Amino acid sequence: MAKILEETPRPTVKDRLDKTVEAVHGSQAWNSIFRPGSIFRKGYTDSPRNRSYVIMNSVIYHLHPVKVKRHAVKVSYTLCLGGLSFFLFILLTVTGIFLMFFYRPTDVQAWNDISNLQTSVTFGLLVRNMHRWGAHLMVLTVFLHMARVFYHGAYKPPREFNWVIGVILLTLTLLLSFTGYLLPWDQLALWAVTVGTNMMGYSPVIGSQVRFVLLGGKEIGGDTLLRWYVLHVLFFPFVIVIFMAIHFWRVRKDGGISGPL
Ligand code: HEM
Repeated sequence: MAKILEETPRPTVKDRLDKTVEAVHGSQAWNSIFRPGSIFRKGYTDSPRNRSYVIMNSVIYHLHPVKVKRHAVKVSYTLCLGGLSFFLFILLTVTGIFLMFFYRPTDVQAWNDISNLQTSVTFGLLVRNMHRWGAHLMVLTVFLHMARVFYHGAYKPPREFNWVIGVILLTLTLLLSFTGYLLPWDQLALWAVTVGTNMMGYSPVIGSQVRFVLLGGKEIGGDTLLRWYVLHVLFFPFVIVIFMAIHFWRVRKDGGISGPL
């Protein structure tokens, strides 16, 4: 008995772990979910051409580049302002979904819902303030990110297309911020939107029509609130996500983050 034990030593913890990993990696479930290119399939025969296809077509592999230039990961170069803007957008999405559980966009309920949220909902005040301050901060970080890109000359070829996408992102960020401003339905919001839409009313040729469409009538009211709510929680977030995806894709395709001047 002693002899047999000697010949087959007990597997170490590492051996057992290796075996488990091997079994999981070899399993059908693992292969179907994580097999290279399984998200966007492009067949898979192991050739250099197909290996590149798999990397190019997989969202998961695309998120992290294989190589990053040294200066690009230096916080002192980008100040991480683009990344911070993106982080704030995610934070705003999560806190925004929380707020949606307690808010009804009608002129009778909106203000009361926000007031109740602050006083009677657990973490309501905290989450509302995270959403509000996050929104202000995102406008700031996007603007500073744009300034960083400008002062580094990173708008120059080959990145001029991404600069244009950036301008659209800035506009969308401002629109998200402005449409959200009306939702608490307090005096500040009402008058801000009255002033804003009056200004739009003075734009040439189609001014008054634009004002009418934005207000959902001749003056601010419940229809305006519903309209801006839908724009704020659905339309603009949807559009900005598409443009962000194009923006990140372009950063990669334009040869990664620009170098120092
Ligand atoms: C929602 C807003 C935005 C987000 C989330 C965002 C995100 C990012 C990220 C993560 C990067 C990688 C480098 C970095 O972090 O600096 C980047 C690069 C870049 N962004 Fe933005 N961005 C936004 C708005 C803008 C705006 C407003 C502009 C300009 C008008 C702009 C122009 C550019 C350009 C040209 C690059 C390439 C910079 C380089 O290679 O050094 N972006 N963006």
